[in-house]
Amino acid sequence: MNRRQFLYGATAVATMPILVGCSENGPIVTIDNSYPVGRYSAASTAEEVTLGLDLTGKTAMVTGCNSGLGLETMRVLALRGAHVIGTGRTLEKATKACSGVTGITTPVVLELSSLQSVVECADTVAALGLPIDILVCNAGVNTFGKLELVNGVEKIFAVNYLGHFVLVNRLMPLLKKAQASRIVNVGSKSAYVQAPAVGIDFDNLRGEGLFDSQEAYGRSKLANALFSLELATRLRGSSVTSNVIHPGLVKTKIARTAPAVISKGFDWFGGLIAKTPQEGAATQVYVATNPALEGVSGAYFEDCNAVMVSGEHHIFDKPMAERLWATGEEMAEGYLI
Ligand SMILES: NC(=O)c1ccc[n+]([C@@H]2O[C@H](COP(=O)([O-])OP(=O)(O)OC[C@H]3O[C@@H](n4cnc5c(N)ncnc54)[C@H](OP(=O)(O)O)[C@@H]3O)[C@@H](O)[C@H]2O)c1
Repeated sequence: MNRRQFLYGATAVATMPILVGCSENGPIVTIDNSYPVGRYSAASTAEEVTLGLDLTGKTAMVTGCNSGLGLETMRVLALRGAHVIGTGRTLEKATKACSGVTGITTPVVLELSSLQSVVECADTVAALGLPIDILVCNAGVNTFGKLELVNGVEKIFAVNYLGHFVLVNRLMPLLKKAQASRIVNVGSKSAYVQAPAVGIDFDNLRGEGLFDSQEAYGRSKLANALFSLELATRLRGSSVTSNVIHPGLVKTKIARTAPAVISKGFDWFGGLIAKTPQEGAATQVYVATNPALEGVSGAYFEDCNAVMVSGEHHIFDKPMAERLWATGEEMAEGYLI
């Protein structure tokens, strides 16, 4: 190892968990025994949690299928027999990812920063004429940089939350067509570690106030959690469930736009502190498929179990979830069904 590698590695190992809200410090997380408790853990892989499952005949959709957790999620769902619709920001990326896994896959374009692209993606999927049994809202971005706006909305919030808000709403008829379907929202513990103290700062979603990219990432992941909670409420009594998960700190390309000292260091030494994509994808794949979780909705999962989180945070804040839904409707006016 040369000096530069040592410096980059040490910086990444020290800062990455903090930058993506995955440091060990923070609230106490305990398994929530009011939900079925499984035998899997942080070390389980997506293959292990689906061993023996046959998903033949089911249709799954995974956003961000060309990289990291999305790619592993698509690979394992297809391995178990599901037909997986994999989205990428270009058809080329989605096609390359889909053709690289064993099983039945269909590539579709989805650029979450463009609500027009979201509408076109949902239309393309609807044209396949299939009910959707599993929808994993996985794609996400962390800019690590300066404030960026897309159509007047802060970019991390627009991509991680607003795009998926429109996608899920437009796909709802297909989800309701399935006998029982599951929506899995890929959030992060940064929702309770990094989000603004007030939770969603509704007066700063369009770049009105101060910008801190870590806080913005936390806010977007809190929005994922609140969206999942409100969805679960609205879907009560239906055949569709909604849950949110934190995958853990995982060695993927999530730090690609971080300063080189961090992104390169994480590439080189992330394995020392982070899960592999195989381990990282386990929780979302488990929640998407495990038979014991039939009907479970509105829960928050870490390391393959529903958990409770101590302290003051907003991940189960019902009034905030309702207000976020109304804000999403207003921001996405003209793009919802
Ligand atoms: N890795 C971690 O430690 C960690 C921790 C907590 C939560 N998460 C969450 O896990 C999810 C998956 O991330 P990952 O770790 O697998 O990172 P990744 O390797 O960077 O994958 C992110 C995926 O999202 C896609 N994406 C980014 N911006 C998009 C946009 N505007 N429209 C459509 N797709 C877009 C990417 O497409 P391109 O490749 O084309 O950019 C890629 O397919 C994210 O929601 C992330 O927030 C990750």
